[in-house]
Amino acid sequence: MQSLWIETAKKPKFNNLNGDINTDILIVGGGLTGILCAYMLQKAGVDYTLIEAKEICSGITKNTTAKITAQHGLIYNKTIKKYGVDTAKLYYKANSNAIQHYKNLCDELNCNFETKDAYIYSTNDVTKIISELNAYKKINVKAEFVNKTLLPFSVLGALKLTNQGQIHPLDFLYKLSKNLNIKENTKLINMTPNYAETNGGKIKFKKAIIATHFPILNKHGSYFLKMYQHRSYVIALKNAQDTRGMYVDHDLKGLSFRNYGDLLLIGGGSHRTGRSGGAWAELEAFAKRHYPNAEIMYKWATQDCMTLDDIAYIGNYSKNTPNLFVATGYNKWGFTTAMVAAEILCDLVQEKSNSYASVFSPSRSILHPQLAINGLESFLNIITPTTPRCPHLGCALKYNKYEHTWDCPCHGSRFTKDGKLIDGPATDDKPMHN
Ligand code: FES
Repeated sequence: MQSLWIETAKKPKFNNLNGDINTDILIVGGGLTGILCAYMLQKAGVDYTLIEAKEICSGITKNTTAKITAQHGLIYNKTIKKYGVDTAKLYYKANSNAIQHYKNLCDELNCNFETKDAYIYSTNDVTKIISELNAYKKINVKAEFVNKTLLPFSVLGALKLTNQGQIHPLDFLYKLSKNLNIKENTKLINMTPNYAETNGGKIKFKKAIIATHFPILNKHGSYFLKMYQHRSYVIALKNAQDTRGMYVDHDLKGLSFRNYGDLLLIGGGSHRTGRSGGAWAELEAFAKRHYPNAEIMYKWATQDCMTLDDIAYIGNYSKNTPNLFVATGYNKWGFTTAMVAAEILCDLVQEKSNSYASVFSPSRSILHPQLAINGLESFLNIITPTTPRCPHLGCALKYNKYEHTWDCPCHGSRFTKDGKLIDGPATDDKPMHN
């Protein structure tokens, strides 16, 4: 169940940390965000070190579908309602700049950036698509309403945004990371304001960026209340169809589509991590129905951190930690948002202002019913009397019979059958006695 990307790109190797060091900026986490931050800091001539507990891109990054777009579901209508037109304009600008940044880097690195149109479609509720179109008009973005697409089923309507893109994520990241100061197999064990203790030595730093998908430091920021994780599934089909675009259903439970070479990637089956879901069954049934001659070449799963207001948390880890920074909560739009995050964080750690920082500030005040739901979910799972417990904050783990893993419904940590850590925010294996 490896992702297509892993099997079609060659990873560079990096040494582990061996002894104590000093660095100006410590980056924790060698996924997409951490690598982009490292690249930009290196380009700016800033001293930095990136540490990764395992190997680079071995977490969620390898499972992305790498759609690069400023069209993030129905974000603009929601953002205008919640924060106003100016904030929505900034959100769009930050993301369209990110697309251009990817294009430029792909040119430099000789990676294939495929320009594609992005579509958000609906099969049952066109009013939301029309409201989103109106939101685009309010922020002066040109988009087109269409009711015909190349999808193998009819849609009630879709919103088309041109000049977006897609890439092979690991080909890009492996090339980008080649000459960066990265220490693999270097696990953070403890962190104080200016010191990090790792399994390879102590690191004295001035500022740190936590880029671990779900933030791993619980003491600040209350991310365990402000986020939960969603799991979803992908299949890659041969002999299917070229849809000539990137498509996402407006409903979180719907399907997404993009092509890579002669493969069609279909994503879907989304559910809160730790709750039961049908895994790949829905996608396989869809493939059988619409592409009876197709063959499944790859299948994999991924998970996403979901925030309270659908906007990522990028900036100071908390109000009380001026030298600690974070990027998380990409709400299924990880590829574009990671670039936005790297641009903002590289400015902030150099004490430069950034026009987009206020939009994504983790300290923005958000009152949302999901906050109470997240708190209740954790409470109920903490008091659930069952044996296997999560080493993060002690919630009851659920066995995932499709993937043979123990999954945590509270914040989405996952473990193998034998208790080895797969996904955080937990940082340790599940103790074998529970
Ligand atoms: Fe937080 Fe399990 S991930 S308690």
